Amino acid sequence: MTEQSSSRIDQSAAVAGYASALDVEPKGPTVMNLDQVSVYYGDFRAVRDVTMPVYEHEITAMIGPSGCGKSTVLRSLNRMNDLIPTARVEGSISYMGVDLYGPNVDPVEVRRRIGMVFQKPNPFPKSIRENITYGPKIAGIAKSEWPALVESSLRSAAIWDEVKDRLDDSALGLSGGQQQRLCIARAIATKPDVLLMDEPCSALDPIATGRIEDLMQQLKDEYSIVIVTHNMQQAARVSDHCAFFTTEVDADSERRTGQLVEFSETTRIFSNPSDERTENYVTGRFG
Ligand SMILES: Nc1ncnc2c1ncn2[C@@H]1O[C@H](COP(=O)(O)OP(=O)(O)OP(=O)(O)O)[C@@H](O)[C@H]1O
Ligand SMILES: [Mg+2]
Repeated sequence: MTEQSSSRIDQSAAVAGYASALDVEPKGPTVMNLDQVSVYYGDFRAVRDVTMPVYEHEITAMIGPSGCGKSTVLRSLNRMNDLIPTARVEGSISYMGVDLYGPNVDPVEVRRRIGMVFQKPNPFPKSIRENITYGPKIAGIAKSEWPALVESSLRSAAIWDEVKDRLDDSALGLSGGQQQRLCIARAIATKPDVLLMDEPCSALDPIATGRIEDLMQQLKDEYSIVIVTHNMQQAARVSDHCAFFTTEVDADSERRTGQLVEFSETTRIFSNPSDERTENYVTGRFG
């Protein structure tokens, strides 16, 4: 872990204004670790036994067929599943060595440190500026700091030049690709460590997709990114490590349950995977 990111932790603790269970010294090159994670919706085990790391300053891709639990696992990484009443996580997910689901951990603080960008750009029906200041306001960041934060977040998301003269216009007037970059700017305005992205380009054209992919490469200097994508080329192009999930019929429930088949360097997943199911999927022979 770099000096830069540990100072980011100190800074965000100061911003939140209280000591948090998440204020720990970083332990190593992994920012998160999943150990034997299963996620249930009611009695249904949607995904089981997921064990994998998320490495710092890397892009980790999650790929696999529809329904294999990619979004479910992604949401469990910042306790977004808490918002689904039937959802329950088993096993352990740690962030910087701290159990994310531990008793002293505040889920709101978790979501500030581990931000999320969704499939469909979802700016608030407010001005461009207010979209950015929303998170810092809730986090208690002094109003005097907002203008600098607005500019730095929009610059980091490579959209500043396009919006700097219309910050008080509605965010809904932006194009889809601009809206998605605004959502990325909104996610980084609270200075997270990790960015989760669930198919962030699926509603975008190839040019806007290329811009988001370039942006991800720049952002990984500062953040660790986990992306769910259906686009094999995208996973191969942008990610450093890749997790392939599939579904198998669960012997107990006789329902299809998602599972992690293989986690490895992306080059290996696409050139020399160790599991035949991975090879069939990445070469398009699946199903
Ligand atoms: N809120 C929910 N309540 C009940 N079951 C759910 C819920 N969300 C997802 N599931 C189920 O959990 C399983 C995994 O779904 P999930 O959305 O995580 O898959 P996915 O891999 O993201 O699929 P896709 O590629 O289509 O987005 C599916 O069987 C799905 O029906
Ligand atoms: Mg999904």
